[in-house]
Amino acid sequence: MPPKPLPGFRDFYPEQLAERAHIFDTWRRIVRRYAFQEYDGPPLEPLDLYTQKSGDEIVTQLYNFVDKGDRAVALRPEMTPTFARMVGARAQTLRKPVRWFSMPQLFRYERTQKGRLREHFQLNVDIVGESDVLADAELLSVAVEIMRAFGLTAHDVRARVSDRRLLNALLAHLAIEESRWTDVYAVLDKLERQPRELSEEKLIAAGLSVEVCSVILGFVGLDFETLRAQYGDSVLVAPEIARFAEYLSHAEALGIAEWIRFDLTIVRGLAYYTGIVFELFDATGEFRAICGGGRYDNLLASLGGTDLPALGFGLGDVVLGELLRARKLMPVMVASVDFWLAQSPDAPRYPAAMLEAATALRSSGASVEYGLRAQRMEKQFEAARKAGARHVVLVDVASDGRTTYRVRLSGHDEQHFDRMEALVQWASSTTEIAT
Ligand code: HAM
Repeated sequence: MPPKPLPGFRDFYPEQLAERAHIFDTWRRIVRRYAFQEYDGPPLEPLDLYTQKSGDEIVTQLYNFVDKGDRAVALRPEMTPTFARMVGARAQTLRKPVRWFSMPQLFRYERTQKGRLREHFQLNVDIVGESDVLADAELLSVAVEIMRAFGLTAHDVRARVSDRRLLNALLAHLAIEESRWTDVYAVLDKLERQPRELSEEKLIAAGLSVEVCSVILGFVGLDFETLRAQYGDSVLVAPEIARFAEYLSHAEALGIAEWIRFDLTIVRGLAYYTGIVFELFDATGEFRAICGGGRYDNLLASLGGTDLPALGFGLGDVVLGELLRARKLMPVMVASVDFWLAQSPDAPRYPAAMLEAATALRSSGASVEYGLRAQRMEKQFEAARKAGARHVVLVDVASDGRTTYRVRLSGHDEQHFDRMEALVQWASSTTEIAT
């Protein structure tokens, strides 16, 4: 048996690489429309970059080792700490707000399952230096516009949005001690996936009364207007409600309102988020999260850099690819070559004229292939067909040394050229050539 890749790692054959290229091209095209600039960082980082700030879950999933210089290192499991470090190092000189994106390959030792592998590519889009909620709305609109560019609609994908500040204000209003908030977060995060009784048990164990417990469990499906009606008079909650309402009105003006579902159970696993957080899911709930992100205003300062507000999201290629294939929105790669050069069986082996024509056509921008060994005519035509060649050029060298180039067109038509320059000129004028 030939060796296999490691579990959770992928080989990209040309068909899969074409899908990946489609995903990457679409990501780049859309984020550039929003005036984000591309950056990258090292795939291997000091281990403590993650152990300090990413939160327990990601730390248990690290690919880490000690290198030959005795440094504790890890393959990057996410881009945000690298991004925060890079921006922090130049915080004084960078134009604000910083609008950067990257498409790193990330590594997490996860339990491999549908939608979760041990490596994935993740579009990261981040903004630094702006605390206004307009930045939060702008960020979500990038993620939504990317979905649209793939042909997905508000019927296919939902952006589930919450706000950690609003949630904290609610917990404070309910007189839950701050030391208990992380326990409540953990329960909220799993509310949909674990039995209600278990959630209840955990909340009681965290010291919540039965009444408060049922309020928290009632956060499932609570829409923003109901929340506003219930807590709009609370001095603690009202300012957070007002800010979130402003966010929603910006989202409306940006044309993404119909994608948004207010959802207090969206907490986000990573430890550093401080404000509005969101995740994109397919509407049927069949797949894992497509994308996740939010505001992380304290991360730059806590990594020892300048205190700057920040927000961003990560959008992986794995779930997105699964969803696009399921909805028949992934283009199928068709192999194609502009010209296949065939040599006449009577010609001397590998006539220089054929190789010169190949070189000239390639210089003009056409893709060109020919058999790398002498073959019968039928074999050459068969190979041209399999390669998806648009045109076959038969290169004939007569006994007096004169060369002719016969291009097979559709049907039985042929076009003859007796000079290579004429062939190349004609080739350049055919519109199919992808230059
Ligand atoms: P995350 O929620 O851990 O966030 O990952 C974001 C997205 O990456 C997920 O929604 C999912 O599509 C994809 N993803 C994550 N892990 C895997 C995996 N093992 N296999 C396949 N896909 C995966 C972050 O990583 C944050 N650093 C995002 C961010 C950027 N926040 C602010 N800026």
